Amino acid sequence: MRTRISGGVPVTGSPPDILPDLRSGTLGALTRAQLVGLCDVSGLSPADTETYAHTLVEALGPAAERSLALPPPTRTFLSDDHTPVEYSLSFSPGRAPALRVLVEPGCGADTRAENGRIGLDVVRAMGRRWDFSTERLDEIEDLFFPDRPKGPLALWIALELLPGGVPKVKVYLNPAASGAKRSAKTVRKALRRLGHKKAYAALPKADGHPFLALDLGHWETPRVKVYTRHLDLSATEAGNLSRTGSGPGPAEIQEFFRAAAATDDLDRRPGLSCHSFTERETGRPSGFTLHIPVRDYARDDKEVLDRAVDILRSHGMDPAPLVRSLPALTTRRPKDGVGLIAYLALVHQQGHPPRVTAYLSSEAYAVRPPTKLRHRSAAEV
Ligand code: TRP
Repeated sequence: MRTRISGGVPVTGSPPDILPDLRSGTLGALTRAQLVGLCDVSGLSPADTETYAHTLVEALGPAAERSLALPPPTRTFLSDDHTPVEYSLSFSPGRAPALRVLVEPGCGADTRAENGRIGLDVVRAMGRRWDFSTERLDEIEDLFFPDRPKGPLALWIALELLPGGVPKVKVYLNPAASGAKRSAKTVRKALRRLGHKKAYAALPKADGHPFLALDLGHWETPRVKVYTRHLDLSATEAGNLSRTGSGPGPAEIQEFFRAAAATDDLDRRPGLSCHSFTERETGRPSGFTLHIPVRDYARDDKEVLDRAVDILRSHGMDPAPLVRSLPALTTRRPKDGVGLIAYLALVHQQGHPPRVTAYLSSEAYAVRPPTKLRHRSAAEV
């Protein structure tokens, strides 16, 4: 069935037909078509699909109109090829995967400060539109938006595209905004202000704090999430990172690590973990996620996809939507590049079954060629 999505771009139920044409168009048209394909994969209705496609294009602002023949609007580190959009599918047993989209609203800005201002404006406009409070963001705004912000990002927004046309909203902030050396302190201050006085002390030892994320909008239990970076992380060390006292134990985390990375040691791009905090009494985190940057530990996306399929199956999740998601993004063969699946993550949130999340790249600007050398031993030769 061929439907027409506003903006005059015809979008079919099978976007691959039109993807090659869109690659010579604009950033907005390509990412919209990719999102439409992914909405189909995750079972969203045509009405929700239209709402969310529109929301994404709107969040990109003027960058949506930018020709893909031009370089990316900024060298954002949101994705490897600097596309200011990334998708993810989060799998739970027995249901369709949840689709999310991460976007940098300020990607068209000339300065980091302006990038942050645009990001804040867009979050607040979403708050008015979907009737949620941005109070928790307001409380810590000064810590993350100094006059002359530093570091690799200003503000990213992730939307979880729920059925019904109203997404859940997450905001990603940069703890290094006042300098990388102050990151830990900034995270500690932010947690304290938000009433999580003991949370910082609960975190594992880390080699950096790349993000702090806030749930805004209509969440049952809104979280503050703190991301930690771990250089040279081994499977055994990863198994001992969780401070939740619930959820997957060391053996299950190690198994995930090895299945995703196909090595015992993340000696290239570092692994990340994330702890989420909800209640404020004990200081104990209620959630833990391990992120494996699979793209740096595989030859190509076929290899990554095979690993992801095995992981999903072993967790009792249907891998079919993941397999179908790749043709919604690109017509290239998985074997012909690496990075379409950027991260695989094992997610634990207290009271819920474990989830597996795959982060999916747009590749609007570039495809990373397959890695010649497969494993560490080979890479070191
Ligand atoms: N591209 C960045 C990185 O690789 C940031 C990022 C985007 C990220 N999506 C992510 C980090 C998902 C962890 C998980 O680090």
